[in-house]
Amino acid sequence: MTKPFKIRDIEINPPLILSPMAGVTDVAFRCLLKRRGGIGLTVSEFISVEGLTRNNPKSWRQMRFHEYERPFAVQIFGAQPERMRMAAEMAQEAGADIVDINCGCPAPKVVKHGGGSGLLRDLPRLEAILREVRKGITIPLTIKIRAGYSDREINCVEVARLAEDCGVEHVALHGRTREQGYRGFANWDLVRQVKEAVKIPVSGSGDVTTIEGAFQRWRETGCDGILIGRGAMMNPWIFRQIEDALHGREPFQPTLEDKRAVLLEYFELLRDDMPEIAAINRMKQLAGHFTKGLPGGARFRTAIYHSHSVQEILDRIEEYFTAIAQGRPYMGEETTDTSDVPALTSCDALCEAV
Ligand SMILES: Cc1cc2nc3c(=O)[nH]c(=O)nc-3n(C[C@H](O)[C@H](O)[C@H](O)COP(=O)(O)O)c2cc1C
Repeated sequence: MTKPFKIRDIEINPPLILSPMAGVTDVAFRCLLKRRGGIGLTVSEFISVEGLTRNNPKSWRQMRFHEYERPFAVQIFGAQPERMRMAAEMAQEAGADIVDINCGCPAPKVVKHGGGSGLLRDLPRLEAILREVRKGITIPLTIKIRAGYSDREINCVEVARLAEDCGVEHVALHGRTREQGYRGFANWDLVRQVKEAVKIPVSGSGDVTTIEGAFQRWRETGCDGILIGRGAMMNPWIFRQIEDALHGREPFQPTLEDKRAVLLEYFELLRDDMPEIAAINRMKQLAGHFTKGLPGGARFRTAIYHSHSVQEILDRIEEYFTAIAQGRPYMGEETTDTSDVPALTSCDALCEAV
């Protein structure tokens, strides 16, 4: 039976986590999702400890959050124990509930310096970091890892045991290797193995996009929590729907009006948070994901992509949703047929960026 779990005294209820995604899960996106309901823990994008400890304004901006996001974890990445500790102290000072260490990022620029998934290949360094950070903060310390560096170096069970020994209080496992990037599927049997190997709570990550998928993962692995990343970009209500199902309620079904409203709300949150041009660019990058699976969505994404002002974006959203509501073609593309939920590979361009 799936139930809320605790990271020390912090209740993760429901046991669902908005997975950190660099370039996506900034404060605007997290608020949008948190307002839809069903999220037990939000996590920042990964934040460079080099940037934070050298007062880079971007890194500081990435640490902002709203009170209603709590519990909120700040995820940091880096490779120098001392800098990691300083950054963790800053996160605690900024009010974070949890500090999370990124041991999964596959990006060459991160791994080259020994950070992200590079730490999975250098356990003495990882141990030094965990012990140093643990000394610096009083709030819970957690890690997010991958299965291992490559198929020949699957070591998540060993890493989880080491982490537990260093005082880490939650492990999140994305069951792909660093070499795999985002290809193929996450191996959830490894989540089961890690769960069986340690006493601290364990959550799994990778390819969950449906209520049934989440329930199956809980059943098969016995894990405590489930992280959802790309699935939340395509369906911001996924957490609420899973929570509904956990409570035996009929899962919430967003109407077309809800989908239109979520796009407008997101654009507003972005504009409140960043310069107009940056908000427009972020809309171009992400708005399309929210309409994946809607009829005529491809033309809509193209139309947003070619918009240059706030008003143009608002007009395109209005025109598109009016067309679907009336079952009219949008810019020549049929809007009457509905397609299935698209595959996660549709996020490939974003994945390549990290
Ligand atoms: C665009 C993008 C950015 C990501 N950035 C991070 C990150 O900053 N930190 C992290 O731990 N994982 C990051 N990930 C990995 C996700 O948190 C997650 O583990 C992975 O996408 C698998 O889960 P999903 O299939 O639910 O998306 C990122 C993934 C994507 C697609």
